[in-house]
Amino acid sequence: MVVTWILTLSVILTLLAFPVASDWTSTPFNAPSYPLAVRTPYLSAWFPSPEGGVALNQAWPEFWTGATLGWAGFAKVDGVAYSFLGESSVTNFTKATQVSAEFTSTRSIFVLSAGPVDLTVTFLSPIEPEDLVKQSFPFSYLSVSASSGDGSSHNVSVYTDITGEWLATDHTAAINWTTTTGDVLTHQSQLKNQTEYTEGDGRILQGSMFYSTRNVDGATYQTGSSTVVRSYFISNGKLANTRDTNYRAIDNNWPVFAFARSLGQVTKDTPQYAVFSIGHVRDPVIKYIQNNGVTFEGRSYYFWSTYSTISGAITAFLSDYSEALSRAKALDEKLQTAASSISSDYADIVALSMRQTFGATELTISGSPGAWNTDDVLMFIKEISSDGNVNTVDIIMPAWPAFMYLNPKLGEYLLLPLLQYQATGQYPNKWAVHDLGAHYPIADGHDQGLDEKMPIEECGNMINMMLDYTQRTGDASLVKAYPIHLNQWAEYLVANTLFPANQLTTVDFDGPLPNQTNLAIKGIIGIQAMSVISRKYLDDAESADSYSSIAASYLKTWLNYGISSDDTHLVLEYGNQTSNVLAFNLAMDKLLGLNFIPDSVYSLQSTYYENHLAKYGFALDSRSTYTSSEWMIWTAMTTSTSIRDSFIKAIHNWVSSGKSKTPFTDRFDDATGSSSANKNRPVVGGNLALLIL
Ligand SMILES: *[C@@H]1O[C@H](CO)[C@@H](O)[C@H](O)[C@H]1NC(C)=O
Ligand SMILES: *[C@@H]1O[C@H](CO)[C@@H](O)[C@H](O)[C@H]1NC(C)=O
Ligand SMILES: *[C@@H]1O[C@H](CO)[C@@H](O)[C@H](O)[C@H]1NC(C)=O
Ligand SMILES: *[C@@H]1O[C@H](CO)[C@@H](O)[C@H](O)[C@H]1NC(C)=O
Ligand SMILES: *[C@@H]1O[C@H](CO)[C@@H](O)[C@H](O)[C@H]1NC(C)=O
Ligand SMILES: *[C@@H]1O[C@H](CO)[C@@H](O)[C@H](O)[C@H]1NC(C)=O
Repeated sequence: MVVTWILTLSVILTLLAFPVASDWTSTPFNAPSYPLAVRTPYLSAWFPSPEGGVALNQAWPEFWTGATLGWAGFAKVDGVAYSFLGESSVTNFTKATQVSAEFTSTRSIFVLSAGPVDLTVTFLSPIEPEDLVKQSFPFSYLSVSASSGDGSSHNVSVYTDITGEWLATDHTAAINWTTTTGDVLTHQSQLKNQTEYTEGDGRILQGSMFYSTRNVDGATYQTGSSTVVRSYFISNGKLANTRDTNYRAIDNNWPVFAFARSLGQVTKDTPQYAVFSIGHVRDPVIKYIQNNGVTFEGRSYYFWSTYSTISGAITAFLSDYSEALSRAKALDEKLQTAASSISSDYADIVALSMRQTFGATELTISGSPGAWNTDDVLMFIKEISSDGNVNTVDIIMPAWPAFMYLNPKLGEYLLLPLLQYQATGQYPNKWAVHDLGAHYPIADGHDQGLDEKMPIEECGNMINMMLDYTQRTGDASLVKAYPIHLNQWAEYLVANTLFPANQLTTVDFDGPLPNQTNLAIKGIIGIQAMSVISRKYLDDAESADSYSSIAASYLKTWLNYGISSDDTHLVLEYGNQTSNVLAFNLAMDKLLGLNFIPDSVYSLQSTYYENHLAKYGFALDSRSTYTSSEWMIWTAMTTSTSIRDSFIKAIHNWVSSGKSKTPFTDRFDDATGSSSANKNRPVVGGNLALLIL
């Protein structure tokens, strides 16, 4: 009877929900991959769910690269064991039945029925744009709540563990671990061979994992081989409070670091829950080049300015759970409300973009214990999958809207490392640097000037972002501190942007091309932006006049070369009548409120997009059928409302199609929906572009 009822209920819910994923409801849709614990480039746990959907206990979570992350969950209900997370090979349990899966901006929430009890499994990765201490915590929450599904009261305990797979992809790596007890139970584990600032397979070979829960009545722990520890819970509904000190390789009898929590008698009206925190901490975090090119500063997480120990930080993080949950719900609601004013499809896209964007960043300070310099805040961002570059200018630019929407100050913290480095004079080129280091977390600059060459792209980006930051905040200190560089980059644009040489743009996967219409206009708008900066903030009317008259005359020439001879659209490259382009750089005019581009260009392009829309959008340019969500949404700032909505619909169709099982990819085929290796990149922050107009 009960089984029939559950099946009937899930059928009804399935029919009500859309799109359909397997036999549980998916809200708002089945995500390609659900963010589980996504807070830094190295705390990035996901749950892939390709077409049809995968229940939380049908597979293991994965690191963003696809490497397995052992993260197990069991519950014991009136003596019967159920699994709710991961795919363990131990025996004597049944799988709880997934009832629903949901994602919001900050949370992924799964409900599974474990016999007569419903388990709500919530993965909360906080986004704390206003609180630098909390934003810098490299921790995430797992909460497991149990309530009675049949009205009777039930005896429930829950279990969870992690394996050493969170430390390295190479399972032969030797690890060790300790368990500390006190107000909080914490398992700390790390690689025995620590290598500062070094990655292997996308992991950082430095620092430690921390898995914790509050040491309340009914909390138990155990370390040992996965089979022994999981079976112990399945048999006993609790753990033995014992430690395995036979330190060994990750895959040598698979050591796990486990907790169990008794939730006692659970009724319908009094659900009980247990909270766990998971994190990866290293110190120093970033190696940052100094003003001599020889020495480097080791920068630390911002939270050290408030907490002198990791255990203090974890205790605060765990104690803060219900407040953090309220703040998360408020942030989810704020984004949902704002984005829904455009469309509910748009709100879904925004929600899936948030953790991925912030999860590529880390907030740091300089100093040392007792003498932290909280005035020296720098934020670092990893390009993630396209390569490991540090603070890439043409990654910050597409991602920019997420930071501007939530706290523009974060934009300043992202730009400052680039500005400080170029102010040292160590970068030899006269254009703006592409990034601050070839591989995260080493921000060692490019003293040889051999960074990926995107001169017009990055000069335009830097000027445009600095004006945008200044206009939004009214804080002119940033532009006032770097006038020489701004002018140098503007001069570079004056000399080079009208007829661009064979340069790369941010869509570098399509290779370089001379005379690119979309690149040229970024530079021309940059010159116009520089005239605004000169006039409004640098008190330099003479430069302002000169820049604005140059920009105006360049615009005339650009209209001549950029528009096709039949006056139907912008071409990809001057003179090539069979080419076309998603002219996303026109959005810089809207972003900055310049009113510089004639409306006729916008309507021309709107009509062209409308007539040439493929199933999943409009390709970046006519060289390939690849497009990207964030550049379509940036472009939607410049189009008619109907094209804006068509772009949003196309992106929504694609991301909900089940064709991908990776973190949000920003590069997919506009017709087939197949995607490239670009995944988990922070550029999806650009999906918020329509919120910052
Ligand atoms: C499974 O449960 C049965 C019955 O309780 C027990 O005899 C058996 O030892 C258990 N097997 C394992 C692997 O724990
Ligand atoms: C574990 O390895 C680290 C890094 O080599 C070392 O500093 C630490 O003392 C070791 N801990 C234990 C418990 O062996
Ligand atoms: C430690 O790791 C580094 C970086 O992966 C490697 O080069 C080195 O050989 C390792 N050392 C030992 C003793 O395994
Ligand atoms: C509840 O379950 C736990 C663990 O399975 C067990 O130790 C305890 O005796 C049970 N309590 C009751 C009241 O049945
Ligand atoms: C760019 O276009 C201009 C005008 O047609 C032309 O003179 C110039 O040779 C082109 N530049 C390149 C690098 O092809
Ligand atoms: C014009 O553009 C199309 C599409 O981008 C390209 O295939 C073609 O080779 C270009 N023609 C010339 C003459 O460069």
